Amino acid sequence: MLFIKIATILFFISVIDVFVSAQRKIGYPVVLIPGDGGSQLVVKLNKSSTPHYLCRKVTAGYETIWVNLEELLPEVIDCFVDNMRLRYDPVSRTTHDGPGVDIRTTGFGDTASVEYLDPNPATHLSSKMTYFSHIVDDLVAIGYTRGLSVRGAPFDFRKAPNELGQYFVDLQQLIEDTFLKNNNTKVVVIGHSMGNPVFLYFLNRLPQQWKDKYIQSFISLAGVWGGAVKTLRLMASGDNLGVVVVNVNKIRPEQRAMPSTAFLMPNDRFWNRSEVLVVTPEKNYTVADYKEYFTDLNFTDGFEMWKDTKDLVYDLTPPEVPVLCIHGSGVPTVDTLIFGKGQFPDTYPASVNGDGDGTVNLRSLLGCLRWVGAQKYPVRHVALNGSSTEHMALLANSDARQYIKDVVTGERLLD
Ligand SMILES: *[C@@H]1O[C@H](CO)[C@@H](O)[C@H](O)[C@H]1NC(C)=O
Ligand SMILES: *[C@@H]1O[C@H](CO)[C@@H](O)[C@H](O)[C@H]1NC(C)=O
Ligand SMILES: *[C@@H]1O[C@H](CO)[C@@H](O)[C@H](O)[C@H]1NC(C)=O
Ligand SMILES: *[C@@H]1O[C@H](CO)[C@@H](O)[C@H](O)[C@H]1NC(C)=O
Ligand SMILES: *[C@@H]1O[C@H](CO)[C@@H](O)[C@H](O)[C@H]1NC(C)=O
Ligand SMILES: *[C@@H]1O[C@H](CO)[C@@H](O)[C@H](O)[C@H]1NC(C)=O
Repeated sequence: MLFIKIATILFFISVIDVFVSAQRKIGYPVVLIPGDGGSQLVVKLNKSSTPHYLCRKVTAGYETIWVNLEELLPEVIDCFVDNMRLRYDPVSRTTHDGPGVDIRTTGFGDTASVEYLDPNPATHLSSKMTYFSHIVDDLVAIGYTRGLSVRGAPFDFRKAPNELGQYFVDLQQLIEDTFLKNNNTKVVVIGHSMGNPVFLYFLNRLPQQWKDKYIQSFISLAGVWGGAVKTLRLMASGDNLGVVVVNVNKIRPEQRAMPSTAFLMPNDRFWNRSEVLVVTPEKNYTVADYKEYFTDLNFTDGFEMWKDTKDLVYDLTPPEVPVLCIHGSGVPTVDTLIFGKGQFPDTYPASVNGDGDGTVNLRSLLGCLRWVGAQKYPVRHVALNGSSTEHMALLANSDARQYIKDVVTGERLLD
């Protein structure tokens, strides 16, 4: 097992910190890119059939589907799963909502849709439902304005970058618009979790001139650079979503059907083909065995989705913008799944844990280090440690927030 000791802060070259001004001020405008499950979604229904008599067929307009805790209650979770579940078309190799279901993001450019997972204010006191709100509050406290100098770029996190074409058009426009509305000031983009490979994919497809004009820096929080073993559990028995405790078998059809889950599977640039990731009495599986894994799960669409998404950021082509890469560690993170006799694939497996942030394995979080010396712009790395640096908790972590404030105000330069 990979075991790396990390100092609270590995290296962040503080000697070149430049204190431009002792006073707090707006430096660069900010665009926030959320991760898997991190954008609120709304749904409009006009269905002819449902899996359960309790499920509604029609809604008057769009209403919250993600996250709406009421939708996840045991009696009605089947309705949620049927509505959220994407259908895969193996011919066009794309996914779409089920018949009579229309799901979309809401509030593009505003922060509301990424500050809290559930828009219902009654839930906002729960730390499980807060998302970018701490970071946005910090910025507002020093003079930023929601929707103007700090903006959100929610996306349909069920999909991987190969199906986010319109999102990338909108994101490019949002960044340009933010630049213009802030007196032609370059933008700091902050990604969380899957938002990071999504933004990398976007940057990899833009000309250098555009990046040099519009992007001040890219702050990556808890980036999933080489996948996470947890996704293999999600494909097998199902998994809790981190935010709420639900019946894992019931939610599995929805989670499996997300190409983003396939996109986040561990890859062979980060895991050796000799390392066993899933143990069963009959067979073991490594990163080289996904075809067999999906066959044995009786979920061959999953293998097709993996093929569609595996190369999107596989090479980790450098973003060619200044990078500040912040992540947690020291939180037990699933390294290997162990299914006992008769348990594969439906029973929630035992696991062997390793280092990481509780969701993403450490080696994957460290993927940004591959850009050091590989691009002409600086790559700064901050590895934090301990339970307050857990995958979601990192967004409330005071050290992470201080780094963000220092960079966006221009008090800390990344070169
Ligand atoms: C709902 O779908 C039916 C046919 O499936 C259609 O006739 C009707 O116009 C739709 N209603 C709305 C509000 O879209
Ligand atoms: C906009 O930028 C110009 C040139 O850098 C500067 O003179 C002006 O004060 C700025 N305006 C605002 C509102 O920040
Ligand atoms: C993978 O395993 C092989 C054989 O055990 C070893 O030679 C190689 O260095 C390993 N690669 C990595 C990246 O750990
Ligand atoms: C699977 O891997 C485990 C642990 O690495 C090993 O003990 C076991 O013998 C392997 N089983 C099979 C069927 O290869
Ligand atoms: C495999 O899945 C198909 C549909 O997805 C289902 O009809 C079939 O019964 C499943 N087979 C097994 C062995 O579970
Ligand atoms: C990281 O935190 C864990 C507890 O979460 C602790 O056991 C470990 O010693 C810490 N490691 C470092 C390098 O600080």
